[in-house]
Amino acid sequence: MINKEMFQFPIRYTSPIHRIAIGWGVHQTVADECKAAGIKKALIVTTGLKGTGIIDEIRQILTANGVANETYDKVTSNPKDYQVMEAYDVYRNTGCDGVVSVGGGSSHDCAKGLRSVAANKGIYVCDMAAFIDPPWMEEVKKYKPVTIPQVAVNTTAGTGAECTFAAAITNTRVRAKQLLVVPGQTPTVALIDPLLVRLMPKHIAAWTGIDTLAHAFEGYVSKTRVPYTAALMLGVIKIVAENLREFTYNRMNHIACEQMCWAESMGGAGLHFGGGTGIVHGLGHTLSVLTDCHHGLANAVLTIPGERYNQPSCPEKFAEMAQAMGVDIRGLTKMQAADKWFEEMERLLADLNITTGHLHEQFGLQQEDLEHFINTYANSFHHEGNPREFDRAEISQLLEGIF
Ligand SMILES: [Fe+2]
Repeated sequence: MINKEMFQFPIRYTSPIHRIAIGWGVHQTVADECKAAGIKKALIVTTGLKGTGIIDEIRQILTANGVANETYDKVTSNPKDYQVMEAYDVYRNTGCDGVVSVGGGSSHDCAKGLRSVAANKGIYVCDMAAFIDPPWMEEVKKYKPVTIPQVAVNTTAGTGAECTFAAAITNTRVRAKQLLVVPGQTPTVALIDPLLVRLMPKHIAAWTGIDTLAHAFEGYVSKTRVPYTAALMLGVIKIVAENLREFTYNRMNHIACEQMCWAESMGGAGLHFGGGTGIVHGLGHTLSVLTDCHHGLANAVLTIPGERYNQPSCPEKFAEMAQAMGVDIRGLTKMQAADKWFEEMERLLADLNITTGHLHEQFGLQQEDLEHFINTYANSFHHEGNPREFDRAEISQLLEGIF
């Protein structure tokens, strides 16, 4: 049959963006935001953030202002399906009517997952995961929209999860990170406070910063990119290039810290507006699931090989990203200018002490796991918008090259 579609993505939609508050001290408004959202008893969902004092502070603010609260603090990096279900049980058994997620993407996504589970009679969270096949836009119609409010208090400058509609949850039964896109899942309000963000340890600042950058460069080269997302992503690339080193090595540098908060939020908004992630996130999710390595680090070690793979499909976009990183590309050919982006990225990764590839040596990945990478990527969202079409043999070759 003749394919009558004129373009691959002929009509594009944005998602409504919820309230985002960014600024020094904004976490102190958490109780006011709960009250505005109608929350009388909040479940705090978090990894615990031990040693920072942040959770005690949030509890204190809520209690002092008349918002009762309970805490679920067993979320881990790469949040697992059973953690979402445990958090849901606590939510239900303690009579909470809203959620306050405190942390980075793991805490926010676990909270989104529990709200979706609660809206859908306690269904196993990954039964609502979205794929290319069967078509997710049809599948999501089966689920009741989320109405439980979520106040997301950010403590990292990385994920953008505090303002996006999707949640990435590890399905431990099939060893894959899967995306939930249940309607209404976007947090009600995001509070991004540099006072909290600057408490990250150095390596987390670096890894989460590269995650922000990965949202930007993957969104910029994505086939699903639109002018809204392109503008945001170029802005993120510029800000990260100018501030991530300074922020990583001195989190008390208030200008760099504040700038990374803006970049992180802009990257999240770009994803939310429809800019997609691609091969780096697609393969990175599986690396995180198999080895439990940090999401940002997984993206970082896959950046160069993943985007070298994409480079021939859209060299002009890489050239534009090199320019956004401060490179003078005048007089260069398109391919020479595109190469400059890779030079800049290699320098940035080296400055942040991150080694590309070497997946076996760095993370203990096993040869027999490579097939699992390809199978998982084959039906994930991430290859849909990736600028180079999916090809099993080519992906296999890419992975062999960085094993
Ligand atoms: Fe990410």
